[in-house]
Amino acid sequence: MPVQIALFNHKGGVSKTTTCFNLGWMLAEKGKKVLLVDCDPQCNLTGMTLGFKGEEELKIVYEAEGVRNIRDGLAPAFESRPELLKPVICEEVPGQPNMYLLPGHLGLAEYEVTLGIAQELSGSLVTLQNLPGSLRYLFDITANSIGADIVIVDMSPSLGSVNQNLLMTSDFFIVPMTPDYFSVMATDSLASVLPKWKKWAIQAQSNPTLLEASYPFPQTTPRFLGTVIQKYRLRKQGQPSAAFQNWINELNRGVKETLLPALEANDMTLCEAAYQNAGIEAGNPILQMSDFNGLIALSQKHQAPVFSLTDEQLVQTGIVLERTDRKSVV
Ligand SMILES: Nc1ncnc2c1ncn2[C@@H]1O[C@H](COP(=O)(O)OP(=O)(O)OP(=O)(O)O)[C@@H](O)[C@H]1O
Ligand SMILES: [Mg+2]
Repeated sequence: MPVQIALFNHKGGVSKTTTCFNLGWMLAEKGKKVLLVDCDPQCNLTGMTLGFKGEEELKIVYEAEGVRNIRDGLAPAFESRPELLKPVICEEVPGQPNMYLLPGHLGLAEYEVTLGIAQELSGSLVTLQNLPGSLRYLFDITANSIGADIVIVDMSPSLGSVNQNLLMTSDFFIVPMTPDYFSVMATDSLASVLPKWKKWAIQAQSNPTLLEASYPFPQTTPRFLGTVIQKYRLRKQGQPSAAFQNWINELNRGVKETLLPALEANDMTLCEAAYQNAGIEAGNPILQMSDFNGLIALSQKHQAPVFSLTDEQLVQTGIVLERTDRKSVV
């Protein structure tokens, strides 16, 4: 069974999608077979991975033969069709043979309300019993169809029912953040929302109707891997500027004093030794990354992660200065 990692923060624009792409590529480069799943109706991950600029190009993928995106993959369950879910035909990722994409769809937003009702009623309505377990089931059969070991889930910036489901049916999660006041606020709200979601998941996992469903609710607990802090400006010495450092300190304090204890109390963390073995202190960011500046535009242009932009790709555009920047993120 593939391992599923979700990238989640209900705060928007904190680099969830960019991190999915770069992390997935790095894992693929290390020999893992990776499936990226675009669960955000904005479809940014799909656009970025396939190099699309608009709806028209997405339509070509959707209209090809077979089940080609997340909405169509889930449709038999959400539209009560008498057929089992089938693996989605994934897109190959240009330049990275070990990574695949399960494309997103704007229409996933239309399932938000139905899934919310199914989750509220927690299995008391048999006609909705297949919905809570259907997302993880679809990702598992799709990952198995291409032999993927790791599924990386890109989520929208919201606290809606789809995200509640995606997070609570993942095995691990990472919280991307940017050093500002809004991310500090988001840390507090995550500390209050995630324990409620955990209580719901515990009930769902023992609910007889959900257990008997065609897609039983998964018996997993999402464990917090850590935060990733990005997009700050540097001082000359390669350190965050003073203003950004203050926000980074605030974020780390919020995570250690509020979020981590709430997660620990709800059995949503790894054991202490696991963080130590990875060389991080629980609550400290697993990665801090300065602003990519112009490299982000090049990364999107070439559909390649920042760390593997070639000298040629950099030189073509004459961005000499940023070669230094790139080296600092490799
Ligand atoms: N380290 C970085 N340096 C500079 N720009 C970045 C960095 N990471 C992401 N960006 C840019 O910041 C913007 C937001 O990033 P991204 O779309 O990955 O965030 P997100 O959390 O997925 O947003 P949303 O909540 O809307 O889904 C994008 O324009 C992206 O190109
Ligand atoms: Mg995004």
